[in-house]
Amino acid sequence: MKAGFLQMAPVLGESPNNALKAGNLIESAGEFDLIVLPELANSGYNFNGIDEAMELSENISKSHFVDILQEICAERKCHIVTGFCERDGDRLFNSSLLINENGVVGKYRKIHLFNNEKDYFTPGDSQPELYEIGEWKIGMLVCFDWAFFEIWRVLALKGADLIAHPANLVVKGGGHAAVPVYAKTNSYYVITSNRTGIEGDLHFTGESLIAAPDGSLLAQADSDSDVIQIAGLDLSKARDKMITPKNDLIADRRPEMYGGLLD
Ligand code: ACM
Repeated sequence: MKAGFLQMAPVLGESPNNALKAGNLIESAGEFDLIVLPELANSGYNFNGIDEAMELSENISKSHFVDILQEICAERKCHIVTGFCERDGDRLFNSSLLINENGVVGKYRKIHLFNNEKDYFTPGDSQPELYEIGEWKIGMLVCFDWAFFEIWRVLALKGADLIAHPANLVVKGGGHAAVPVYAKTNSYYVITSNRTGIEGDLHFTGESLIAAPDGSLLAQADSDSDVIQIAGLDLSKARDKMITPKNDLIADRRPEMYGGLLD
């Protein structure tokens, strides 16, 4: 498949315009099957209190942002993964949505909340699922999930071929360093779409990337451009878990030695 990231700076409180901006970038892109947008791409990130977070959140079924992305999927015959500030009753979730021409066909609610996110969001309330795009099995994680290798392994054990990872990274050297290691140690692809720009005291770091199952980078953006980068991905590489003729990354696990993880 052809897949990649759309790196941009969503504007706080400009939900439909953020979707239109993504659409303008997509118009100039070549063919792709899947594109990944940053975390909280509808709302922006740095809320000035819970009231603003509530105001800028959206119900999936009433979101013009989602409608615009769905239209793009219908036109381009593609899938889009996007970060989404989701309201469900009086709770907010920092979610990732998988959208196609039929609407939202997959959802993940961020499990590991970062810093002030704990003031606004409820942590994800279910394990991440896999979703199919053709033969590909796609998992989703969001930004600070990078710090918890367990959840990356859970998706590998479920059979993920590709992890779509919308992000709003603010610290260099964290997620950017960890993601290629997870790609290599699980032998799957990871697409991290990280936003750029400044909101208040937060400076987002860009450098979105596509990591291959051998840990190499197939593409990486700079720290401040609005840009789409796409790579050709090979399913057989994600399904091959042998890293030497005698070492299978999944079969060689020794779960009976890992009991402490569940303490
Ligand atoms: C982050 O999780 N947005 C750093």
